Amino acid sequence: MSQNKMDVLVGLQWGDEGKGKIVDFLCSDYDIVARYQGGANAGHTIYVDNKKIVLHLIPSGIVREKTINVLGSGMVIDPIALIEEIKMLEDAGVKNVKSRIIISDKAHIIHPYHKLEDAKRESENTAVGSTLKGIGPAYTDKYKRVGILSGKILSGEIKIEESNEEPIKSSIESWKDAIKQMSNLRIENTEVFLNNELDKGKKIIAEGAQGALLDISFGSYPYVTSSHTTSGGVCVGLGVAPNRIGKVFGVFKAYCTRVGLGPFPTELNNEVGEEIRRKGKEYGATTGRPRRCGWLDIPNLKYSIMINGVTDLIMVKADVLSGMESLYIGKDEKDGKYNYVPMNGWKNTLFEDDNFIKYVNFIEAEVGRKVNYVSFGPNRDEIVKLYI
Ligand code: IMP
Repeated sequence: MSQNKMDVLVGLQWGDEGKGKIVDFLCSDYDIVARYQGGANAGHTIYVDNKKIVLHLIPSGIVREKTINVLGSGMVIDPIALIEEIKMLEDAGVKNVKSRIIISDKAHIIHPYHKLEDAKRESENTAVGSTLKGIGPAYTDKYKRVGILSGKILSGEIKIEESNEEPIKSSIESWKDAIKQMSNLRIENTEVFLNNELDKGKKIIAEGAQGALLDISFGSYPYVTSSHTTSGGVCVGLGVAPNRIGKVFGVFKAYCTRVGLGPFPTELNNEVGEEIRRKGKEYGATTGRPRRCGWLDIPNLKYSIMINGVTDLIMVKADVLSGMESLYIGKDEKDGKYNYVPMNGWKNTLFEDDNFIKYVNFIEAEVGRKVNYVSFGPNRDEIVKLYI
């Protein structure tokens, strides 16, 4: 008998590919959405009835009425950010928020100390352009085996020593209060929960944060985040075995962006890059920082498709490039230099414009697979399925 499998959605570039909107779009097919890595460094933006909702920790399924949302063991959770996010959703009218969240007892908890460490490191010559959410220091503690396990702190089994160091001292009361509120949520062994739900035939999708090129192993180290953002991270971040992974949806923008430091081969440090930033509203959803913008990068896209085992390819923000007279695609690295292929621009009615179809066909020929969906705006209905 064939086993019911979990699907995965990952970003194929440096994050900010618009994964939130795509999970939300795909969500009507799923009972459960599970995050497997990262923390409040992520910013997933969803528009529901023209209302903008930005999620940092809670999976994007929360805006659908019945979907269950799991924060998996591979995550690092900031209790203050989580409680604020729950309140923001309740204030926005989202129903039954608390009862639709399940937190892994093996996720790690971010302490004010982690944020302080992040800021210290960023002020030194080891800066990577971190979001300052304490992500790196929390994962460091996890691997040093001195981290704060959610199951233990929320059950009161372990207590944290008081600190007189500022700014830890001034934020510790709100942290303790958030821990107290968090302990009223559903905390459990989510790997058993997810495998059992798969056995019952429930449809589950794992939602990646950041992008493949920020993966701690496969990204442009050291300018990476501290977790496994690629589809392999699902197995260790949710406790689901490799033979239970089904489809892998890979999301990429029609161009590239990157926030923070690190290599960006196709970056445009000119007015074209600025135009893309302005039209694509390319400012960080978490930090508000302007994103670096550049042309689509085929070698990196091919690499990401390979590492993630992408089965379904989704191109987003195609509309941002509409109206440009000409544009380029970065291809074939040679002696460290990219070769740029010129493409003719397309009009706003992109699906009726041959130039847009040529752009899609060029990508398909280069990466050796079809682009299954194209998204052309922030709303749920602004997406077209090209191939099943
Ligand atoms: P950290 O994850 O905050 O430690 O940041 C490490 C690097 O990953 C920095 O370059 C960040 O800008 C980048 N980064 C972290 N989270 C995101 C995200 O959600 N989108 C895009 N870049 C991110």
